[in-house]
Amino acid sequence: MVVTGCHSPPFFFQETKIQLSIEQAFDFSNQVVLITGAATGIGFSTAQQFAERGATLVLVDRDEKIHEVTQALGTRHLSLVADVSNEETVVSSVTIAIEKFGRIDVLVNNAGIGPLSKSEETTSALWDATMAVNLKGSFLFAREVGKHMILRKRGRIINMASQAALVALDGHLAYCASKAGVLGMTRVMAQEWGPLGITVNAISPTVVDTELGARGSWAGEIGAAFKKKIPTGRFALPVEIAMSALYLASGAAAMVNGANIVVDGGYTAG
Ligand SMILES: NC(=O)c1ccc[n+]([C@@H]2O[C@H](COP(=O)([O-])OP(=O)(O)OC[C@H]3O[C@@H](n4cnc5c(N)ncnc54)[C@H](O)[C@@H]3O)[C@@H](O)[C@H]2O)c1
Repeated sequence: MVVTGCHSPPFFFQETKIQLSIEQAFDFSNQVVLITGAATGIGFSTAQQFAERGATLVLVDRDEKIHEVTQALGTRHLSLVADVSNEETVVSSVTIAIEKFGRIDVLVNNAGIGPLSKSEETTSALWDATMAVNLKGSFLFAREVGKHMILRKRGRIINMASQAALVALDGHLAYCASKAGVLGMTRVMAQEWGPLGITVNAISPTVVDTELGARGSWAGEIGAAFKKKIPTGRFALPVEIAMSALYLASGAAAMVNGANIVVDGGYTAG
């Protein structure tokens, strides 16, 4: 099924001379948004926010729960079980989405893992697994979706990085390296694809209230001690990260390209 009558509004991706109302800029009712790692956490919250503003969603996760989660957001959406680190699966997922909806307007590369280990104890298996999901998975989806966006001369790509891309965090060797890689990748794609009508940006959250973050490796005393170092005195909520993704995908952010929106309560400012 191709979404009919769904031409992006004239202001979207255009030069800023055109005046937008906030409502117009944040209306996604004509847009197809693909989000990876959407079964829970930040990805799910982002899916909820786009759905509430009318987007048609393609939700991807390695967890089968993605089908149920997608159904709960409405019947117009598509759910796909896929491992973002598997090239064949990524290629076929993008093909299925394009065949069904005709295009992808926004890609949110959100799937990520964060296994921890001291540097001297980090195995090549842990290193490879982290790079495969966090960096290669984002690259594969951006490349495949990017090809279609280039043909249409429009698109928004949002890559989930982390405060870990900017500063050292104990035990986060592979994670920090993978997220720094995400920022490097974001900048190159922004430079190459900006002239083709596509913006590519990143978001770098501090610890977020999810299974991977506040309820995972940052639970307990480690988290309590870390929180004291965040100027705003708390961890972030998934919806606060979702809001940055909405902004980057919106008509209000047409001139934002190659940027890294840091949502860390000021932690990395110190
Ligand atoms: N939570 C935090 O504190 C925090 C902070 C900074 C950045 N981030 C980043 O935000 C993103 C989302 O994190 P979250 O906290 O919501 O995590 P989460 O663990 O709550 O959710 C991650 C989702 O990604 C899916 N996923 C994992 N590996 C996958 C794979 N190979 N293929 C497909 N799906 C896969 C999981 O099944 C899950 O549904 C990640 O990229 C993470 O690195 C999180």
